[in-house]
Amino acid sequence: MKRNVMMAGLVLVSAFASQAAMADAGADLAKAKNCLACHAVATKLVGPAYKDVAAKYAGQKDAEAKLITKVLKGGSGTWGAIPMPANPQVNEAEAKTLVKWVLAQK
Ligand code: HEC
Repeated sequence: MKRNVMMAGLVLVSAFASQAAMADAGADLAKAKNCLACHAVATKLVGPAYKDVAAKYAGQKDAEAKLITKVLKGGSGTWGAIPMPANPQVNEAEAKTLVKWVLAQK
C-alpha cells in the first residue's frame, strides 16, 4: 500500500518534470531561432506578446495549424500593419514546438 502511494508520487513528479522540460524546450527554441528578437511572452515588441497570441486563439482547434504556417511563411494583418517575415531557419517540427509553446503562455 505504502509502495503504491510512493509510485503514484513518482509518476506525478515525472509528469511535472516533463511538462517543465517542454516549456524550457519551447523557450530555448524561441531564443535559438531568433523569435525573441521581435516577441516577448508578456510584452508587445515588434510582434504581439505571446500571451496575447495564446489568449486570442484559446479554444480554437484549427489555430495550431494556421499559426504553424504563419510562423514558417510569415504574414501580416492580424495584429497590425507590420508583417512577420518568413522564418526559413525553422522546420515544420520546430514550428509546431514553438506554436504549442506560444499557445501555452498565460
Ligand atoms: C522580424 C520580427 C519577427 C520575428 C523574427 C518573428 N516574428 Fe512572429 N510576428 C511578428 C509580427 C510583426 C507579427 C504580427 C503579424 C500580423 O499582424 O499578422 C508576428 C506574429 C506572430 C504570431 C501570431 C500570428 C497570428 O496570425 O496571430 C506568432 C504565433 C508568431 N509571430 C510566432 C513567431 C515565432 C515562433 C518566431 C520565431 C521562429 C517569430 N514569430 C519570429 C514579428 C516577428
